[in-house]
Amino acid sequence: MKKLSLLPVAALVGVLFFQAIQKPEVETHPILDLDAPKMPAKVKAVVEQKCYGCHNAESKNEKGKKKLDWDAFEAEKKAKQLAAMSKINEVLEEGEMPPKKFLENKPEGKLSEEELAILLDWSAGKKKGGE
Ligand code: HEC
Repeated sequence: MKKLSLLPVAALVGVLFFQAIQKPEVETHPILDLDAPKMPAKVKAVVEQKCYGCHNAESKNEKGKKKLDWDAFEAEKKAKQLAAMSKINEVLEEGEMPPKKFLENKPEGKLSEEELAILLDWSAGKKKGGE
């Protein structure tokens, strides 16, 4: 009798376990997925606002998209990410991004000093942009 009464419990545990391993895959935009381990949330926030518009997989800015695609960046292997980060660091040091021409029409697109510092630190590998 004792064994039988354990059956429903065992069944329940089984169901819960099955649900736990069968987590539905939520489709989120990689850049918006704050749980993604690779980019600190602060860095993402700046990128989203100031860089992503030209540098994403669907961007109409063909040149920008070709040079840097943040969607692809997130999925890259570490070595490639590091290479891209060093390029990012370089253009930021030079003050080349966002492009000057673009800023002439959209001055609010400029990076603030704080935003620039966040991106510089991160792309230099200091990872200070974390939570
Ligand atoms: C208005 C569109 C626009 C915005 C906003 C923008 N970029 Fe760019 N980016 C471009 C274009 C266009 C190129 C290609 C320039 C070229 O080939 O001369 C480019 C090139 C680059 C490159 C590659 C440079 C190289 O020589 O390989 C990096 C890195 C880069 N951008 C980073 C950034 C970062 C970081 C931001 C945000 C702070 C940003 N971009 C914002 C349009 C943009």
